[in-house]
Amino acid sequence: MENQETNARGTWGSKIAFIFAAAGSAIGLGNIWRFPTQVSQNGGAVFVLVYIIAVALIGLTVMLAELTIGRHAQKNPVGAIEHIKPRSPWKLFGYLGVITGVCILSFYSVAAGWAVGYMVKTASGAFRGEVTGQMTDRIFTEFSADPLQVILLLAIIVGLTTFIISRGVKKGIERWTKILMPILFVLIIFLAIRALTLPGAGKGLVFYLKPDFSKFSGTVVLFALGQAFFSLSLGMGTMITYGSYISKSDNLVSSAGWVTFSDTLIAILAGMIIFPTLAFSGQPGDVGGVGLIYKIFPIIFSQIPGGYIFGTLFFALISVAALTSTISLLEVPVAYLVDEKNWSRTKAALGIGTLAFVLGVPSALSSGGTQIFTKLRIFYWFDFIFGNISLAVGALLICVFVGYVWGVKKALQEVFSGNPRFKLKPFWVFSLKFLSPIAIIIILIFIKTIAG
Ligand code: TRP
Repeated sequence: MENQETNARGTWGSKIAFIFAAAGSAIGLGNIWRFPTQVSQNGGAVFVLVYIIAVALIGLTVMLAELTIGRHAQKNPVGAIEHIKPRSPWKLFGYLGVITGVCILSFYSVAAGWAVGYMVKTASGAFRGEVTGQMTDRIFTEFSADPLQVILLLAIIVGLTTFIISRGVKKGIERWTKILMPILFVLIIFLAIRALTLPGAGKGLVFYLKPDFSKFSGTVVLFALGQAFFSLSLGMGTMITYGSYISKSDNLVSSAGWVTFSDTLIAILAGMIIFPTLAFSGQPGDVGGVGLIYKIFPIIFSQIPGGYIFGTLFFALISVAALTSTISLLEVPVAYLVDEKNWSRTKAALGIGTLAFVLGVPSALSSGGTQIFTKLRIFYWFDFIFGNISLAVGALLICVFVGYVWGVKKALQEVFSGNPRFKLKPFWVFSLKFLSPIAIIIILIFIKTIAG
């Protein structure tokens, strides 16, 4: 029975295939676009430091918790919670995840659309000749304020995501990530080396890596924690859903470790490109807004012979990295509708895809496209509420659910399958039951002061 069920859902071809797919979900605009932006806006190196601590102590804990739930229950978040704790209000967590998924997908696809737009722009030679910060600033401002263009790009991303998801897990996700992520990785290393050898790079590195503790604040911690969840795709059930496809003989701990490590590495490397280049172009480290990377990458490409080819390739690859993330966002609500409501995959993907598109339009129009949405900062608020708060609440609920409701003992049995020794057990249990939930609660309590 169990086997039949597993087969009907499909399982990952191998452990490596799972790691690639989960890393494909984690690695995306969160690393390349959102991370540098947050570093820039939240005091530079001090943010980086808090971020790394948050990933190691809290992110990794929650990642393992989600994978454990998923593999145990073999279901989408709502079904998984229902399976472990039937007819309880904990089911609401699953719904929170489903809603958060759609809402993140909406604004995320806007930023992903920009990457597609920049691929075309770069290929058509928009950044030829002497590329200055002023010029890239003007180009991004005009670009992101063109209402038809940004909506069209949003439609392209959501449309592609819907198409891939409607074709099923294995074919859709596995094939893409295996080939393209390694190419992106090599290109990022190459760009980081070029950026670090630019004149003035050192000044950027100081902002990025030498903490100025006078910039430390509750806001920094809130955003660093939120960014950790966002970048690792935690707090809304993505990793529950992905975990449900992992085989019982795989080691969940090392899988979680690899995904976390590669995700963090890419984010850190992205900063190694952005901040030296920013300093090279004579701008301070803290200028960042949502357009930061779109203003900075064209500058580094102009410093490489044949740069526009690299630039085009780069924007193409981050569009793909974004797509492997958007498909993981759409997968959660779709898996829910398929498993729990007996919808067909195609119908579920189309329905949720359309909803995400409609919800995304105000975000798309809030970088100058229309006055009203720009003034209301819809993009910012979607990102803040769903990309930070909602994920933090979700992560808190996951910790409490696994630590106290399902119970550490039963969760550990699941972890032991595929990893009978589990050396990090004492740390995981401590972090799951005390450290992570308490840290998240403190941050959530202080939100009022922070947002105000
Ligand atoms: N982690 C992805 C990124 O960094 C975005 C993402 C995909 C995500 N699935 C998620 C974020 C689930 C939060 C929750 O680009």
